[in-house]
Amino acid sequence: MDSILVKGNGPLKGEIPIAGAKNACLTLMPATLLSEEPLTLTNAPRLSDIATMTQLLQSLGAEVAALQDGLVLALSSHAIDNHRADYDIVRKMRASILVLGPMLARDGHAVVSLPGGCAIGARPVDLHLKALEAMGADLDLRDGYVHAKAPGGRLKGAVFEFPLVSVGATENALLAATLAKGTTVLKNAAREPEIVDLARCLRRMGAQIEGEGSGTITIQGVDRLHGATHPVVTDRIELGTYMLVPAIAGGEVECLGGRLELVGAFAEKLDAAGVSVTETARGLKVSRKNGRVRAVDVTTEPFPGFPTDLQAQMMALLCTAEGTSVLEEKIFENRFMHAPELMRMGARIDVRGGTATVTGVEKLRGAPVMATDLRASVSLILAGLAAEGETVVSRVYHLDRGYERVEEKLSACGARIERIRGN
Ligand code: UD1
Repeated sequence: MDSILVKGNGPLKGEIPIAGAKNACLTLMPATLLSEEPLTLTNAPRLSDIATMTQLLQSLGAEVAALQDGLVLALSSHAIDNHRADYDIVRKMRASILVLGPMLARDGHAVVSLPGGCAIGARPVDLHLKALEAMGADLDLRDGYVHAKAPGGRLKGAVFEFPLVSVGATENALLAATLAKGTTVLKNAAREPEIVDLARCLRRMGAQIEGEGSGTITIQGVDRLHGATHPVVTDRIELGTYMLVPAIAGGEVECLGGRLELVGAFAEKLDAAGVSVTETARGLKVSRKNGRVRAVDVTTEPFPGFPTDLQAQMMALLCTAEGTSVLEEKIFENRFMHAPELMRMGARIDVRGGTATVTGVEKLRGAPVMATDLRASVSLILAGLAAEGETVVSRVYHLDRGYERVEEKLSACGARIERIRGN
C-alpha cells in the first residue's frame, strides 16, 4: 500500500486547478442507464471511485470509455443485458446503489447488492428504498441484495417527503422519477450543488424537472430520454480542501475554477478564522489576513450549511488556531477517526460523541499516521504541511478515491510531498 511523505516547509504559493466533482460524476454516470442514446460527461475527475463506477456500469452491459486522459467519459447503454449489480463491485463504493433507480425506471426490474463504503457510521439505504417504494416499486431484501420490480414494468409518479435530508436518496429518486408515469414531487429534498448538476444533465437528456436546489423538486415523467453532453460541476470539497492549504501553511493559493457559491458556509468560517477569500476572474484566491488563525465553532449540516466532507480538513486547521473551537458533526456518527491521528501530531482534541473540542497549539509535529477514510486522509496531509518535521500518511488508497494528483497539485505550490510506493 502506498504512503505519502509530507515535510512541513512554510508558506506555499501558487495555483491549483480544481477538478470536476467526484460526487456529481458518480451520480451523473448512472444517468446513462436511463437512455439508449450516448451520454458524454466532460470535466470528469480522474479517480479510483470513477473507475469503480465504470466497472459497475460495464458489468451491467453499458459501454464506458475514458477519453482525453480520463477528462471525458463517453457512456452508452443501448443494451443493458444484466440487471444485477454484484456485491464484489458494490461493496467497494456506497454510491453504487445509484444504479438501482435508473435500472428500475428503464426496464422495470433490478437486483442490487446492499453497499459498503467509507467506515463513517452505519449509513443505511432505507430512504432510497422508501422513495422507490412510494413510486410503486416492489422490494424484497434477501441474501444482502435488494430485488426490485416495478409492477407493469413502469414506476408511477408519487409525492414523497424524505424524513431526513439525504443526498444519495434524493439522487436515486430523481433519476428514477424522470421515466416514471406521471408527476413526482420530492419534498425535503437535498439541495447540494451535485443535485442541481444532476437535474441539469437530466434536463439536457429531455427530462422535465423543476425546483432543484430548493427543498421541493417536481419531476414530470417522460416516455424516453435521449443523448446529451454535460460538463461535471466543480468539486466543492476538493476546492475547500485546497483553500485550507494557505490557511494552514501560510502563503497564497489561487484555486482555479472555484466559485464562492459552492463553498459559502465554509468560506464564512474561514473569514471568521482570519482567512481572506477573494473571487478572481479565474477562481478563488486565499491567504491569511494576518498572523495565526483564530478558533471558530463549526456545525456540519446539509447544503447550504457547512459540509461534513470538509469537517476533518477544517479540524486540521483549527488544531493550529489560537483558542478553543467546538466542532459538531451532525450528519454522520463516528466521523472523528482523524482526531486520534491528529493527536499523534501533537493536536489537543477532546471527542465526546458527536462533538470535538479542539484547543489550538502553536505547532504540530510530524509523525507516522494512518488514513482512516477519504476526507480524514487529506486532513492529515494538510496537518503535515503545517507540522515541524516529517509526516508519513499510510493507507492512502482512501485518498486516491477522491483526490486526483494531490502530490502534483501541492508540489506546484512549493510543498515537499512525495508518494512512497508500497506493494
Ligand atoms: C453523500 C456524499 C458524501 C457526503 C454525504 C453528506 C456521494 C457519493 N457521497 O453521501 O460524500 O458526506 O452525501 O453530504 O455523493 N441516511 C439514512 N438512510 C438513507 C440514506 C442516508 O439514514 O437511506 C442517513 C445517513 O446515514 C447520514 C445522512 O442520512 O446520516 C445523510 O446521508 P446522505 O446525504 O444520504 O449521504 P450519501 O448520499 O451517502
